[in-house]
Amino acid sequence: MNARVPVIAVDGPSGVGKGTLCQWLANRLGFHLLDSGALYRLTALAALRRNLALEDESRVAAVAAGLEVEFRAGTDGSPRIFLEGVEVGADLRSETCGNAASQVAALPAVRAALLQRQRDFRRSPGLIADGRDMGTVVFPDAELKLFLTASAEERARRRHQQLSEQGMNASLKNLASEIAERDARDRQRAVAPLRPAADAETLDTTHSSIAEVCDRALALAARRLGLPKNC
Ligand code: C5P
Repeated sequence: MNARVPVIAVDGPSGVGKGTLCQWLANRLGFHLLDSGALYRLTALAALRRNLALEDESRVAAVAAGLEVEFRAGTDGSPRIFLEGVEVGADLRSETCGNAASQVAALPAVRAALLQRQRDFRRSPGLIADGRDMGTVVFPDAELKLFLTASAEERARRRHQQLSEQGMNASLKNLASEIAERDARDRQRAVAPLRPAADAETLDTTHSSIAEVCDRALALAARRLGLPKNC
């Protein structure tokens, strides 16, 4: 039954703007949204709160398997995430948590523990799936696979702007090196490394505004999913 529910898989490195695009597409098409990075971040946060070593694969995988999380829409439609009943906001979005997430995401047992949970987000009328391996591993049969890229400098600049808008302070130089470290780990890991699926459409967004990227993605989605042009 799940097979008939369309999925748009959106993959790419950190800070490329996937989150903004996916939220926009989900609102525009009335589709569900999977923020798969949040699941890895939540696993890392829960493991750190239990004082586990991030390389302790079996314990961290047990945390992933038992994650008690809830995604709710805030009054303005923006997502609110709860871990064990308590809202996690800035903690989850911090670069420290992003880095810890990329460490636990390299552990095969953790990825296996989160696989079905991610697939369960596929519900009618459709799903926008944001991550690193949406098109390659989690939804290999997705109707449309997008792979977003942008230069490392531009991604660091975007992440810096996003954090400052959220009232978080970060040095551009530190951000650039953290993003580079995280990308290298995500690209080089043995399981589900960050790479475009063979049938993905690659969008280089370095010189594009978010509005242009949204328009290009929507046009591709409309064509692939057979939606009306003005959807
Ligand atoms: O997308 P976000 O920055 O929230 O992801 C945090 C980390 O989680 C990434 O750096 C990556 O290591 C990991 N991740 C992953 N597979 C996904 C989504 C995120 O390995 N599908």
